[in-house]
Amino acid sequence: MALQKEWWQTAVFYQIYPRSFKDSTNNGVGDLPGIISKLDYLADLGIDAIWFSPFFPSPQADFGYDITDYGAIHPEYGTMDDFDELLVGCHNRGIKVILDMVLNHTSDQHPWFLESKTSQDNPRHDWYVWQDGRGKKGRNPPNNWRAMVGGSAWEWSDERKQFYLHQFLTCQPDLNWRNHAVQEAMFDHLRFWLDKGVDGFRLDIIHTVFEDKEFRDNPRSWHIFPSDNSNEALLQKPVHTQFLPETIDLCVSLREIVDSYSPPRVLVGEAQGGVHLFKPLYGSSANGLNMVFNFEFSKLPFNAKRFGEVIQSTEKALPDPYWPCYVFSNHDVPRMISKHGNNEQKAKLLVLLLLTLRGTPFIYYGEEIGLQNVNIPKQRRKDPLAHHRVWGIPIGRFFGRDGCRTPMQWTNDDVCAGFSDPPVRPWLPVGNNSQKNVLDQLNDNRSMLEYYKRLLRLRKDSLPLKQGLLTLVEQKNSDILMFERSFGEQSVIVVLNFSSKQKKLEIYHSGNQILFSTHGRQGMLDTGEKFCLQEFEGLIIK
Ligand code: NOJ
Repeated sequence: MALQKEWWQTAVFYQIYPRSFKDSTNNGVGDLPGIISKLDYLADLGIDAIWFSPFFPSPQADFGYDITDYGAIHPEYGTMDDFDELLVGCHNRGIKVILDMVLNHTSDQHPWFLESKTSQDNPRHDWYVWQDGRGKKGRNPPNNWRAMVGGSAWEWSDERKQFYLHQFLTCQPDLNWRNHAVQEAMFDHLRFWLDKGVDGFRLDIIHTVFEDKEFRDNPRSWHIFPSDNSNEALLQKPVHTQFLPETIDLCVSLREIVDSYSPPRVLVGEAQGGVHLFKPLYGSSANGLNMVFNFEFSKLPFNAKRFGEVIQSTEKALPDPYWPCYVFSNHDVPRMISKHGNNEQKAKLLVLLLLTLRGTPFIYYGEEIGLQNVNIPKQRRKDPLAHHRVWGIPIGRFFGRDGCRTPMQWTNDDVCAGFSDPPVRPWLPVGNNSQKNVLDQLNDNRSMLEYYKRLLRLRKDSLPLKQGLLTLVEQKNSDILMFERSFGEQSVIVVLNFSSKQKKLEIYHSGNQILFSTHGRQGMLDTGEKFCLQEFEGLIIK
């Protein structure tokens, strides 16, 4: 086991969705100066690094995941000077910064695409993935590939008389990574931000960057929706569109780029599927991405056994020097607390789990105040998926992502929650603000916010929790999840009761001091004696 861990292994990351964090210009949309004004709050919370969802110029058709310029700031969010101030502000507070890089696709308004679609022989004709259609008139898609959001992954261009590939929305054409000029251009964008001093990147749907050279059909599958740990969906096995060997080689090249910088930088990949699928992105000798998000937690029911199974399979697949990276919430999935019935006790238990596992935890803005998913009226839905139709069926009601992207709640003002100032209407409605705001929770010992702060402080001072090995401790009781974290001579036990009833258990451990309790319990336990865990209680014991 490597004793010295890198900063990104011991850090707790916090994801900011810039559009929704803090509006400084009072136009209803969050921006960089707004974030700058909240850096002291973040430092006080105790996080170590921030991942910013994209703030580059974009038509905002997919709210920044459709980029038109990878080397500038979207005017609604501020200027490059604002970014520079933000970066210095973070670094001065000991907070690292990673940006969101969308390598798979650009916006269909990107100048490269506008040029590429003009003809079959323009200078950038092969910067995107273009193919002739099938059928007599050539108007049938080149093959059966499906976009991740459903429907064909091919869109006809009347101008060019060919189809272009889009693995996500039609406004997000896939770049042709087999073209070296494309690779170099994108690598230069990465270097631009690394030269500025950013500490790394989160890589958007990195598993989809390359597709089959021969454009072979994907085989059929019975899965309609992606399951817990499989990427089969929409009746296809995406073997020719996801996790290609070339994509893994690309991860190694990207790592070489970031590793040429000092101090060390980090690459975190976003990919669909369970650990057995995304492990190759780490590289065959841990020489690829430093970490890949494990999204399995975000799909699990509230069940100790199921969590234990995911932890076990992740530990097995990612022994040292590989490093796991668990997440519950982000801008694409319902907030963790709402997935579990908006139950604060359950949310406290789950974040205790997240912050005590071996691996790097990511917290999504607002989780620390128990922000819940918001039900957005139809006419105020902004997410393109909320209006998306597959085979004519409006699927948006089920997959719209606005509910987890609502404004951060800073004060107890009901209309804007301190995100903007009334009478401005924030771009998405504010959620139920009663007690779910920073102002009311600061310095209230019983609040979610103070709970997060205590937990983050404890983690910061604990070598076993930050760096130690993890051993699951088998339990007879299926409602209990227990594991040990050990670092050299030091160790702690984490024990979590997933049941709404008290549970008796035996602690087989030499220590008996309660370091932390979801229920605020303090003091000592009698070693070896059976004792009661309260409903949904979690403990860290030394
Ligand atoms: C994954 C991002 O997290 C999501 O928000 C985005 O819509 C797609 N990739 C396409 O870039």
